[in-house]
Amino acid sequence: MSANPEKFNDLYSSPYLVDYYDLVAPNSDSIDDASFYWRVYQELRSPLLKPTREPFVIMDVGTGTGRVIQGLSNSAAVIGDDFFNTKVLGVDNAQHMLDKAAQNLDSLFKEHVSWILGSALDLASVMAQSGYDKVDLLIFSIGSISHLSEKGQPEKFLEQVSRVLRPGTGRAYVSIYDESLLRKSEEIAFHQPEGITEIKSQTFPNIMYREFNHRGDIQDKVKDVKFELQVVEQTELGDQVLETNNISMRMRQWEEDELVSMSSDAGLNFVEKARGKHETFYVFSTSA
Ligand SMILES: C[S@@+](CC[C@H](N)C(=O)[O-])C[C@H]1O[C@@H](n2cnc3c(N)ncnc32)[C@H](O)[C@@H]1O
Repeated sequence: MSANPEKFNDLYSSPYLVDYYDLVAPNSDSIDDASFYWRVYQELRSPLLKPTREPFVIMDVGTGTGRVIQGLSNSAAVIGDDFFNTKVLGVDNAQHMLDKAAQNLDSLFKEHVSWILGSALDLASVMAQSGYDKVDLLIFSIGSISHLSEKGQPEKFLEQVSRVLRPGTGRAYVSIYDESLLRKSEEIAFHQPEGITEIKSQTFPNIMYREFNHRGDIQDKVKDVKFELQVVEQTELGDQVLETNNISMRMRQWEEDELVSMSSDAGLNFVEKARGKHETFYVFSTSA
């Protein structure tokens, strides 16, 4: 990778940034949503376990580096489940994230998973690419819906969900992270330590990430999360800064239950909400 003095980025747009994302993002030690989704998958699939039925389709929107899919496959491995007649679509609009997701996934269930470059705002096209008709379990995890920060985007996403979900039995699980609730902690919207944080890469030899100058302004429910992230090569001759990235991510903040009031206009039925350790899962269906 060539030296590049300065550029503007999110955390998903280069192999170094994706590596850094994987080091600091919530993992299975800090968040236990994958085991929750595993139980949901088992409950939804069990009445549909017929060899002649078309595949049970899981769509993980904004799959990132595949954390949830990896968690599902770990749970399957533990009890010797073989993902019978199940297809998993890992969807993201950042190719570098998908590349890392494919690397991260162990081999056991690889053939069940397709990684698809696509947008949460155009799930109908994702379905057309996948070759499947409808989704039985749709997941948008750890508050990633906050990335849909432009006006009208959450509504567009919900409308797309109503188009791809299997009528009647299909369920969509959309997470709102506690930290993205307006009334709870306006000051914190993302991983925002004070001072300088230095973390060693576990993928790239002699590479260290230096993160500093965190700030965030909130206006009209949108928080601009900003910080600087340097990619530093540590050599015998000293540190060499390979990249200085100005990270800027726009995150939508949510009112409690705001998603529920939006969903009916999009053609979705609100089924229930469930509490996780750091988030609320909102569950939707469409009418048969
Ligand atoms: C916070 S990460 C979550 C990753 C993963 N789902 C997890 O739970 O660990 C959010 C992901 O959503 C993706 N993303 C953001 N906007 C998107 C969009 N409009 N369509 C598809 N993916 C999107 C980003 O590229 C990123 O990989």
